[in-house]
Amino acid sequence: MTHFAFTPGSVAVVTGGAAGIGLAAAKRFAQLGLRVCIADLGEDHLMRAAQEIGSLAVRGGNDVMAVETDVSRAEDLRRLEAAVRDRFGGTDILMNNAGIQPGSAMFGAAANWERVLDVNLWGVIRGTQTFVPGMIARGRPGLVINTGSKQGITTPPGDPAYNVSKAGLKAFTEALQHELRNTPGCQIRAHLLIPGFVFTALTAKGRIGKPAAAWTPEQTVDFMLERLGANDFYILCPDNDVPRSLDERRILWAAGDIVENRPALSRWHPDYKQAFEAYIQKDD
Ligand code: NAI
Repeated sequence: MTHFAFTPGSVAVVTGGAAGIGLAAAKRFAQLGLRVCIADLGEDHLMRAAQEIGSLAVRGGNDVMAVETDVSRAEDLRRLEAAVRDRFGGTDILMNNAGIQPGSAMFGAAANWERVLDVNLWGVIRGTQTFVPGMIARGRPGLVINTGSKQGITTPPGDPAYNVSKAGLKAFTEALQHELRNTPGCQIRAHLLIPGFVFTALTAKGRIGKPAAAWTPEQTVDFMLERLGANDFYILCPDNDVPRSLDERRILWAAGDIVENRPALSRWHPDYKQAFEAYIQKDD
């Protein structure tokens, strides 16, 4: 069942909506009869995506708009919010999805860390603060969908800036949902989308064909819509390699580091290799 916020004519704003998961979401929203605004970098990139979305929109291209936006810039987000209000009257569904993963090193350039945090974390905080008060005031059912990552939950070694950004996004989205459900009369709900391995420009790394392990962006969005329909806060997506049961064990093991007083990131500590393997394989 599709979530009741997806009623024809509702307005969805998708950041990072010109490619990957964001574009797939914008297309599905348009097919559901929503009016859609995509926000992304690069005029050409945006215009091509807007045309694709427009060709699927129930009432045609007039229901689609595109606004060049760098989500790390507060003034861009304010301009985006105002543009959507002017054209469509307000926003019902906000998908804070723009994200980057250029790679990072613990003692690497501060500018790289700052960019990752500015886009992946501040982009979501500022996006939420810019849009959500108006969404609440509109008094209609609505959604905020923030795209997180399993790397923000189990925080594997190798890309600390990305992990920090997505761990922060998870904490922010949990606090946001708590705030929204305790706001009298508020009909907006927040959700944390946690994709699995999805084949997009972010993960392609020179590959042309989709690896067998990966899901497509469209599969991810279909799963998201199904779980939104079930009102899940944590939309934990599997992929072709990792079923939910394995994610559950990995998440429980990570939380267990504190409870069991194990070393940080013990999943990747040689002394715990066997114990971790046994844990994920054990029958209940
Ligand atoms: P993608 O690279 O295909 O799409 C990301 C879009 O965000 C691009 O169109 C890009 O131009 C845009 N963008 C980047 N910086 C921006 C900025 N400052 N302002 C506005 N737009 C900006 O990547 P994908 O995979 O679709 O990623 C979407 C989200 O999903 C990201 O937040 C990513 O971290 C997350 N994610 C992706 C996974 C995957 O396996 N692909 C797994 C887990 C999370």
